[in-house]
Amino acid sequence: MDALDEIKEFLACETPDSWIQAALQNQDILLIDHAHCEKKAASTAMNLMFRYVDRLDLLNKMSRLAREELIHFEQVLAIMQDRDVVYDHMSPARYAAGMRKHVRTSEPGRLIDLLIIGAFIEARSCERFAKLAPFLDEELAKFYRSLLKSEGRHYQDYLGLAADYAGEPIDERVAFFCEVERELIEAPDDEFRFHSGAPTFI
Ligand SMILES: [Fe+2]
Ligand SMILES: [Fe+2]
Repeated sequence: MDALDEIKEFLACETPDSWIQAALQNQDILLIDHAHCEKKAASTAMNLMFRYVDRLDLLNKMSRLAREELIHFEQVLAIMQDRDVVYDHMSPARYAAGMRKHVRTSEPGRLIDLLIIGAFIEARSCERFAKLAPFLDEELAKFYRSLLKSEGRHYQDYLGLAADYAGEPIDERVAFFCEVERELIEAPDDEFRFHSGAPTFI
């Protein structure tokens, strides 16, 4: 089974076709929000590094991940510049917050939940890049395919850290967030973002 098949099996649903249509109609927002997502991915990894300073494996994996996300950020910015897309503030999708509101408040539950959510965000990004690529122009398709490899590894890093640090099976918690994630992806959403749900406006 290749990495993408594994990711598709990890996720409870595929990205709706209507979201792909919305993405093709909103390519500027797609790029701007994508840039924000890469920056946030780096920042989330660094937050974990500040909070969990005694976890060596986490420090190493998150440090590398943050650097890779910032490289992706620069790559998106360069593509935006080529296309005269102006970077601007953008309200985030409901997606990450919709999962984070379920994070447990006590440790190590908090850490485990954040790592599991990290795995879902990476896995979903990977699935979307792969599903979108065939419909995009050559330059963007090539870029999105190039991201699959590192985002696929990020998903594995997050999930592996969650399993290692939990000290007990994480299957139930993964299944819980899997369902929350599916709902966020499939439920109607009136806003288009990289991680938005099924568009109501198509
Ligand atoms: Fe990335
Ligand atoms: Fe990533």
